[in-house]
Amino acid sequence: MTFPSVRIAELPSHVGQTVTVRGWVTHFRSSGKIAFPVIRDGTGVAQCVVVKSAVSPETWDALGRLSLEASVAVTGEVRAEPRAPGGHELGVSALEVIGTSPADYPIQPKEHGVDFLLDHRHLWLRSPRQAAIMRIRSEVEQGIHDFFYAREFVRCDTPILTGAQGESGGLFETEYFEEGKAYLAQTGQLYGEALAAALGRIYTFGPTFRAEKSKTRRHLTEFWMIEPEMAWYDQDDNMNLQEDLVRFLVERVRERRVAELAVLERDVSKLDCVRDPFVRLDYGDAVTLLQESGSDIKWGEDLGAPDEATIVAKYERPVFVVNYPKEAKAFYMKENPADPRTVRCADLLAPEGRGEIIGGSQREDDYGKLVRRIEEEGLPLAAYDWYLDLRKYGTFVHSGFGIGLERTVAWIAGVEHIREVIPFPRMMGRLRP
Ligand code: 4AD
Ligand code: MG
Repeated sequence: MTFPSVRIAELPSHVGQTVTVRGWVTHFRSSGKIAFPVIRDGTGVAQCVVVKSAVSPETWDALGRLSLEASVAVTGEVRAEPRAPGGHELGVSALEVIGTSPADYPIQPKEHGVDFLLDHRHLWLRSPRQAAIMRIRSEVEQGIHDFFYAREFVRCDTPILTGAQGESGGLFETEYFEEGKAYLAQTGQLYGEALAAALGRIYTFGPTFRAEKSKTRRHLTEFWMIEPEMAWYDQDDNMNLQEDLVRFLVERVRERRVAELAVLERDVSKLDCVRDPFVRLDYGDAVTLLQESGSDIKWGEDLGAPDEATIVAKYERPVFVVNYPKEAKAFYMKENPADPRTVRCADLLAPEGRGEIIGGSQREDDYGKLVRRIEEEGLPLAAYDWYLDLRKYGTFVHSGFGIGLERTVAWIAGVEHIREVIPFPRMMGRLRP
């Protein structure tokens, strides 16, 4: 006889019915006459109660082959049981071992070093903490799509293999037939600008690559970036949109991922600050603030992670640092009419010392100025001929930004290092699993 197959999260709507649940064993204890396997299936955990006198000898014998992470199919009656994890248990009538799991299962209920865990990432992902992080990541991803869909942005996919450098910083290169070198995209932005002239408002959502040698808690060599690009937005419109997006994402996770935030023991009150208007701090004022707090930073230099931490510590809410010096930023940013030494850009710094989660700017729409900037940066003009066409044929005021998915998720979820918020992190010194 077969019974309806349900997932553990669905048990509450099957009380009193006999169902089959398939999953993996997380705990097992037995007294000789009664046994309590606990299983998880990715949607929750369920305690199973096996009474020797109530099951066949085959089922009772199968218990002897249960161990951590063995896969099983358990059939039983669903009972409400407030003391059980998840609030429901299965009164087992049959249990079948699908796949045994030898005693050397690497991830045991004890402390492991992070390198060991990363080497076993394919198994580490099964732990409640990692599963909670993945669900929050998925919520943020879906939130981003919903946010832009509601505002009638068109999602556009831009190439991963590119012929020109998009950002300063390390490039991964590969051979590309007769054309010579191709690079893994550091950004989809330049293509996003072309698409904004075609569609008005667009966003990209894809992997980006940087051959970063830095081993920090906020750098990956492969990370996911969302890059909206908006025709007829100036830099103020751009920052307003970023503020709306970040606030939306934080509220979305707080509303829908309560259980996961609890697994992570996230102090969500730390996120209340996003409800206030974000600070907009001029780069020059940021440098003064840093100098006053003992830093020897000079006007013209980019801000480092400790500088960013000092700034947000002062305000205890998200801070846009605006109008950086030209030399500190990418070639495509629009010269600031109020101070041509600077560009109309902003980095958004997240609270709790998380640093930059968004980089954005208004784009240089003047053909001549853009050519000069490309030359000043020593970039090959020929590779940007198509990009310059966007200024030649109907140039337009436009702006956009890139939000780093992993940094955003790590901040909202309160996860210290971004390697934990992507399923299989790529960093210097790590290419497997
Ligand atoms: O500031 P970035 O380099 O900006 C751009 O790439 C622009 N093209 C964006 C745009 O205007 N369309 O990167 C944007 C964001 C950063 O703020 C950060 O959140 C994330 O991408 N990021 C990284 N995340 C993880 N690992 C790295 N190595 C990252 N580099 C940047
Ligand atoms: Mg940046």
